[in-house]
Parts: sequence; C-alpha cells; structure tokens
Amino acid sequence: MQSHLKLTLVMAAAALSSSLWAQSGPKNQALLERGKYLMNGVVACGNCHFQRDAKGEPLLDKGLSGGFVFDEPPFKAYASNITPDPETGIGKWTDAQLAKAIREGIRPDKSVIGPPMPMAFYRNLSDDDLAAIIAYLRAQKPVRHVVPKSTYNIPLPPNYGPPIQQVRATSPRDKVKYGAYLVEIGHCMECHTPRDEKGMLRLSQLGAGGQHFPGPWGTSVSRNLTPHETGLKNASDAQIERAIREGVDPTGQALKPPMGYPFYKTISNEDMSAIVAYLRTLKPLAFAGKH
Ligand code: HEC
Ligand code: HEC
Repeated sequence: MQSHLKLTLVMAAAALSSSLWAQSGPKNQALLERGKYLMNGVVACGNCHFQRDAKGEPLLDKGLSGGFVFDEPPFKAYASNITPDPETGIGKWTDAQLAKAIREGIRPDKSVIGPPMPMAFYRNLSDDDLAAIIAYLRAQKPVRHVVPKSTYNIPLPPNYGPPIQQVRATSPRDKVKYGAYLVEIGHCMECHTPRDEKGMLRLSQLGAGGQHFPGPWGTSVSRNLTPHETGLKNASDAQIERAIREGVDPTGQALKPPMGYPFYKTISNEDMSAIVAYLRTLKPLAFAGKH
C-alpha cells in the first residue's frame, strides 16, 4: 500500500515536472514573447482592462484586473478582471474556455460578453495569436479585485456568429492583408467608424471617423482614417506613424485619449508599415462627424 502511494507520488511529480518543463520550453517561450508583443502593442487589451485611478491613469502594478467603467446610455459596463486570480479573475478557466470568451464572446457559463468589448473584431484572431494571448494572460500575476456586474439596457445578441473551429495565420509577406489583420485585431475601426442610432457600427463608412468620446480630457472625436481630403490623403506615412505612436497629428497638435498611444509605441516598424499600407487601400470617404 505504502509503496503504491509512493509510486503514485513519484509519477505525479514526474508529470508535474514534465508539464513545467513544457511550459518553460522554447515553444512556450516564443508564444509568450508573441503574446507580450501583441498585448503591449496593437492588441492593447489593457487600454480597457487595466485597473485605473480616479484620473483614469493605469495602475500598472494592478495589471489587467479591470474595473474601468464605460458609462453610456445603452449600458454601464465594467471591464472584467482578466488576471489569473481564481476567485475574481479568470484563474479557473481552461485555455479552451478563454479562447471561446476572447474570440466568440461566450463565457464558460454560456453567458454573452457585452460591449464595448470589441467582439466583432476578435473573430479573426488566428489560432496562433490567440494561444499567444492566452499564454500571456496565464503568465500575469493574479490580482484579487472584485469588479461590479455590468448592466445593459439593450438586449445582447445570443452570440456573435457561429462557433469558430480554426483560424489560420495571415502571412506578413502579404503586406496589405497583414495590415488589415493588425487593424482588425487592434479594433481600430471600433472607434474610427461612425455608429447608427442603435449604436451599431455603420460598416459602409468603415474608417470615416466621427465617434465622440467624452472623458476627463473633454470630448475627442475619432478622425477619418480613409484616403480622402478630410482624412489621411495628404498625410505622409511618417506623419501617420507619428500620430499612432506618439499621439501627435500632422499639424503638430496633441491627440487626446481614449486611443492607446502608449501601447502603439511598441508596434514594430514592419507592422506599422503594413498598417499604413492597409489604411491607404480603404475606400475614400468624407469625414462622418461634424467639426
Ligand atoms: C474597448 C474595451 C475592451 C477591450 C479593448 C477589450 N475588452 Fe475584454 N471586456 C471589456 C468589458 C467592458 C468587459 C465586460 C463585459 C460584460 O460585462 O459583459 C470585458 C470582458 C472580458 C472577458 C470576460 C471576463 C469575465 O470574467 O466575464 C474577457 C475574458 C475579456 N474581456 C478579455 C479581453 C481580452 C483578452 C482582450 C484583448 C484581446 C480584451 N478583453 C479587450 C472591455 C474590453
Ligand atoms: C478607443 C478608441 C480608438 C481606438 C481603438 C483607435 N483610435 Fe485612433 N483615434 C481615436 C480618436 C478619438 C482620435 C482623435 C483624437 C483627437 O482628435 O484628439 C484618433 C486619432 C487617430 C489618428 C490621427 C489621424 C489624424 O488625422 O491626425 C490616427 C492615424 C489613428 N487614430 C489611427 C488609429 C489606428 C491605426 C488604430 C488601431 C491600431 C486606432 N487609431 C485605434 C480613437 C481610437
């Protein structure tokens, strides 16, 4: 009996150390690096999920522990705690459950994640990038932080589309297509496309700007990203890159939040150049807002 128990323990220890080895192996290291690059850069989940102080400044040591409130007429939504805390975060979710939540907007209890989490733009996250984001989330420090429950005065959809089986990676060699992928997983168009009376994005005016963002900074209005005179037609590539990375527009004026400039600073030159190449291919449209 005793030796049997001992054997079981030895086997359990072997299984544990081999899984630890797998986690620190080169493949996982590469996943984690990719996850870090995406999360600190174009994907910028932290722009919504960071815990913030009263002035809206991110409390970096509290990580992605949520609580930031989006108080809009159709909803009062609180960004969730997505640190690995087992009680108040996502610590008990499996990788498959996390994948379904991020890419399809469905939680393990089958409830639907509401706006402003940009669900429409995450459906195309490649399997590899999704795994990288999950590896990154798992590697974060667990932070205990209870976030209030969101309330929605609009009915949430039953889902955001059919279940997703597999999404292949887009090759960076196809520059414009890869730029489109980055703009999608960076949910740029969630802010840069006008909305109809029901709050839905007017996709026929993709990139034409005009959404209003009130905040401690006053009100900012998203700009027109299409190659139109009222958009980016006359801006050079360098000027567009500077706007995204540093938050300074072509006239030298500082750009206001909520765009996540500090995240976008870390986007690589190749990826930035792909983003700009894609923006140049958008249909030219007049600015959708009023000045
Ligand atoms: C524009 C803001 C925004 C962005 C960007 C965003 N989220 Fe969210 N997220 C939210 C809000 C708000 C909720 C809560 C919605 C609700 O209560 O239904 C949420 C909910 C979640 C949940 C559900 C957690 C739970 O306990 O119910 C997960 C998981 C999640 N987000 C992960 C992510 C990841 C990973 C990213 C980046 C790939 C991301 N989010 C980007 C705003 C955002
Ligand atoms: C959370 C909302 C939000 C997101 C996400 C967002 N933006 Fe913006 N963006 C804005 C707002 C608002 C402004 C204008 C700020 C101002 O006028 O002070 C702006 C300004 C810009 C400008 C300056 C344009 C000009 O005419 O000078 C560029 C370029 C830009 N965004 C590109 C992007 C790209 C590319 C992404 C995705 C990687 C992105 N934005 C994501 C809200 C957003």
